[in-house]
Amino acid sequence: MKNNQKITISKDGPYIVSGSIPLKKEIAIIGKSGEPEEWKKGERYPLQDSYALCRCGESKNKPYCDGTHITFKFNGTETASRKKYLEIAEKITGPELNLTDAREFCVSARFCHLAEGTRNSIKNSNNPVSKKNGIQSACNCPSGRLVVWNKKTKNPIEPEFEHSISLIEDPQAKVSGPIWLKGKIQLESGDGTKYETRNRITICRCGKSNNKPYCDGSHIKAKFNDGDNSLK
Ligand code: FES
Repeated sequence: MKNNQKITISKDGPYIVSGSIPLKKEIAIIGKSGEPEEWKKGERYPLQDSYALCRCGESKNKPYCDGTHITFKFNGTETASRKKYLEIAEKITGPELNLTDAREFCVSARFCHLAEGTRNSIKNSNNPVSKKNGIQSACNCPSGRLVVWNKKTKNPIEPEFEHSISLIEDPQAKVSGPIWLKGKIQLESGDGTKYETRNRITICRCGKSNNKPYCDGSHIKAKFNDGDNSLK
């Protein structure tokens, strides 16, 4: 990753992206179970050195900011806890895998509904099918609420990402979801402090989260729709 790649949150305004970070759409695909099971890459945007992404949800030029946040006096106050992931995560142990679960990062993406559910898959991780489902469902969790750990090595099992930004689309719920920061991209607060850097983070772009800058799933109730073809 280039050293200058970061996202800066402007006070009551957009996310300022710098360092030529690729931007694309990513769509949650429903599997045979009737729940989201995989991600499909969508439209790629032209690469720009820096750009401003809408944070209030009201831009007419989504995903980019068009200044509308000023017109309606968007309140983008950052209310999320600054505690580190492992300080707030609950630990679930299984025979071969462990799981950490920080509920406050839930974005209602529902990949954890796969088969018996991620938690039960971990508890049954001496069964090869459950083990595979546990790893798959936790690694597909975009916010990194769920992290699977190899019990022997004590290392997390994380997906490998291109350093990039994805705009989530959720056709099953007929909504657009958060901005997905992939590959340990630095997120910097409007007050200059840095949020914990993690492999997967999801930040709000509908303007309605009660846990800003993170997404808290409020985009579903708000029926946030950026006009993507997958939602038609
Ligand atoms: S995008 Fe999920 S709460 Fe705003």
